[in-house]
Amino acid sequence: MSAEPSTKTIDADQIIEWDSEYVLGTYSREPVVFVRGSGARLWDSEGREYLDFLAGISVASVGHCHPHVARAISAQASTLMHVSNLYHNALQPELAKRLCELTGMDRVFFGNSGAEANEAAIKIARKWAKQYRGPDCHEIITFKGSFHGRTLATVTATANPKYQEPFTPLPGGFRYLEVGDVEALDEAITDKTAAVMIEPIQGESGVRPVPPSFLHAVRALCDEAGCLLILDEVQCGMGRTGRFLASQVAGVRGDIVTLAKAIASGIPMGACLVRGSAACTLVPGDHGSTFGGQPLACAAALATLDVLESEKLIDNAATVGAQFMSDLQALADRIPGTIKEVRGLGLMVGVELATPTAKAVKARLMEKQIIVNAVGDTVLRFLPPLMVTSADCQRVVDALGHVLGQIQATG
Ligand SMILES: Cc1ncc(COP(=O)(O)O)c(C=O)c1O
Repeated sequence: MSAEPSTKTIDADQIIEWDSEYVLGTYSREPVVFVRGSGARLWDSEGREYLDFLAGISVASVGHCHPHVARAISAQASTLMHVSNLYHNALQPELAKRLCELTGMDRVFFGNSGAEANEAAIKIARKWAKQYRGPDCHEIITFKGSFHGRTLATVTATANPKYQEPFTPLPGGFRYLEVGDVEALDEAITDKTAAVMIEPIQGESGVRPVPPSFLHAVRALCDEAGCLLILDEVQCGMGRTGRFLASQVAGVRGDIVTLAKAIASGIPMGACLVRGSAACTLVPGDHGSTFGGQPLACAAALATLDVLESEKLIDNAATVGAQFMSDLQALADRIPGTIKEVRGLGLMVGVELATPTAKAVKARLMEKQIIVNAVGDTVLRFLPPLMVTSADCQRVVDALGHVLGQIQATG
């Protein structure tokens, strides 16, 4: 396959220059302009084809521009893109119903991003706690290494000073603990605790799966204290781990579960799924969103769910992901001293390197037209579309082996 001829008219230098002049500098972007995608492939402005093992950071799970999703968006775009949440739209309830059936939750609030889904979760937990546990109950416990978003409340939930310090003073009422420390959690949960919030797999800090035994302990302590458990599945949810929710792998149910990223294949959407008494907490006027759950995004999300199901992509994530991880482990054994750990679940995979070479490895893979992500100095993160094949994974393992061998040989 090759890029369409129309891409030749794109002036990448001009785009990069305007970006640095007119766009706020919130990203350190690579000097490449992507102009087209299909399945697990992206093409740049020069017509070069890349194998995408990042998928827009866990977004393009059914593959870029899947024809069923593209057709649904196009049909909806010429029917009704937006209607205010003051009125019903034909798609939002159906999407909410399908999400509830897939997750065992009761009701859904739709926003436009992961941060908004988590913001809704925090607000619901606070209002619920005031109502059911007392007027002073508002604290949210989160974990070091977490990432929950960039709004003021979600950056405060994100227990990482790097993201917080420039923006102080932060909202109060958040406490941070170490993942795995059951004793500390037991002590920290008090009658002021509204909820404990956790990602089943910490994605942004380098694909760190939370041990299932700890997730079970968190659930048990929340039940004992009568506070809520919020599971942030913004990155790990939507089938990436081989189950619709990563928490379903561990067999732990949240009272609130948040989804975003892959939910609508790249049309902005976030969803806050709630069950039990917390699902009836918000009333008209408490919370809302102009765009959240609008018909265009719902059409994209419904079509995304169709593809996940019809193409059995969740099963593919489990089987291809397991093979990918075992091949990466075999690579680690073959070139000792390069890979410290291979970890993850399904097609959410992290490779911890033995030396601080993650950025160099990522850059060399990019030269080989393979897109991966480096987290910090030592971790490579792989979040490919869930439709990747074993052959795609083999190409990545071979290329990684080659790059690691080169880096080791040159010191
Ligand atoms: C686990 C998790 N929660 C929340 C977010 C924030 O999502 P968004 O960037 O859509 O606001 C992210 C984004 O990376 C994430 O990985």
